[in-house]
Amino acid sequence: MLKMEPLRLAVLGSGKGSNFVSIQRAIGDGELNAEIRLVVSDNADAGILARAREFDLPAVVLPPSQFKTKLEPETEDKLAQLLLNERIELVVLAGYMRVVKAPLLDAFPDRIVNIHPSLLPKFKGLEAWKQALDAGESKAGCTVHFVNAAIDDGRIIAQREVPVLPNDTAESLHARIQVAEHQLYPWCIKSLVGELRQL
Ligand code: GRF
Repeated sequence: MLKMEPLRLAVLGSGKGSNFVSIQRAIGDGELNAEIRLVVSDNADAGILARAREFDLPAVVLPPSQFKTKLEPETEDKLAQLLLNERIELVVLAGYMRVVKAPLLDAFPDRIVNIHPSLLPKFKGLEAWKQALDAGESKAGCTVHFVNAAIDDGRIIAQREVPVLPNDTAESLHARIQVAEHQLYPWCIKSLVGELRQL
């Protein structure tokens, strides 16, 4: 039987890159038939860039100049063009701290996913694990969803729950959620392959 071509991914992140590593490991272990063609960050010091280089993957910095939470439209156009040139099939946001706007949304309709550290629709926005802890929830978790113009809002692909334990701090709860994220994200990407190839 012919093996399917690996799904062409770009991973965008601003932080330490542990989700990127979990996806790259799933690929390396043969669990996910994909290839990361490009890693992009808005932050030249982000750990994700260093981790990408360790895996010998192309890593690109596209810094914003004037905005705190989004890219300038011209920079986002450039990003969209980079990803189109690489024939990216799925754009994977993994701790990417910029709100995605029209240039990227229009270039990749239904082809951008994000992971958020809460059981959406609860606790959108920053430090969602802390919001769950402060609200006295007995369970927390993470969600992988499609990205649209609203924040942490698109169609949910899958979620994973973790318990909130009596002595949890924000850090211990976040660490437990991240373990769940590292299992959920590669699994979700794998589950999307059929759907994406038919779009
Ligand atoms: C994750 O907790 C994810 O849910 C959130 O940003 C964090 C990124 O972590 N969107 P990492 O850079 O993948 O380690």
